[in-house]
Amino acid sequence: MSLIFAANFKTNHTRKSTAEYLEKFSSFLEGRSEKGYVFPPATALTESVKNVTVGTQNPYPARSGSFTGEIGLDQLEEFECKTVLIGHSERRHVLGETLEQVREKYNFYKEQGYEIFFCIGEPLEVKEEGVDAVMGYIADQVEGIDLNYDKLVIAYEPVWAIGTGKSATAEDIADIHTRIKKLSDKPLLYGGSVKVANINEIAKIDNVDGVLVGTASWNVDDFCKMIEEA
Ligand code: 13P
Repeated sequence: MSLIFAANFKTNHTRKSTAEYLEKFSSFLEGRSEKGYVFPPATALTESVKNVTVGTQNPYPARSGSFTGEIGLDQLEEFECKTVLIGHSERRHVLGETLEQVREKYNFYKEQGYEIFFCIGEPLEVKEEGVDAVMGYIADQVEGIDLNYDKLVIAYEPVWAIGTGKSATAEDIADIHTRIKKLSDKPLLYGGSVKVANINEIAKIDNVDGVLVGTASWNVDDFCKMIEEA
């Protein structure tokens, strides 16, 4: 299976810089086997381009309505957007999304037939309790989530590794990914301080089907370099 490389822009990039990024990324991927995804901020949402699927970071589970600050199906459809990112740890831990809200989003976009990148992962205090605690935490995050959904992509992103420069170790990733694969055979990405310096090691790990990258993806040349290194 070809590796998935997904860039989560978070609150970075503008319409203009996203367009420039997509143009470069699209031509870089020409003739390559990797699958490219970009999740820009909502203001820069745009149609997918050749070789790159563009998805939205934070869809609201409604077609339209009175949900100030949110975007729904009507807004996604305008850009023919069929891919969404749900359950990112920043949504959960910074913006306070609950398990129930995340589940509601998942089920809504599943019913609409969307490709869903579903993020899971434990905070540091859970990791420090050991692997059983980590898997217990993940079990709660996937409760009520259909893990057999054919358009599901799972992203394991330990919270303590996100934006810290400190990735999980290869042993940790291998162990947790093997355990998650027992819950679901869908593509499984690793995320959390993936960069040019560690992609080679991470991409080789069993049960790593690709990566979801924040910081190191924001510069298109770095992201392309990472793909070359993998
Ligand atoms: P960093 O790559 O900045 O650690 O972020 C990872 C992430 O949150 C991707 O969704």
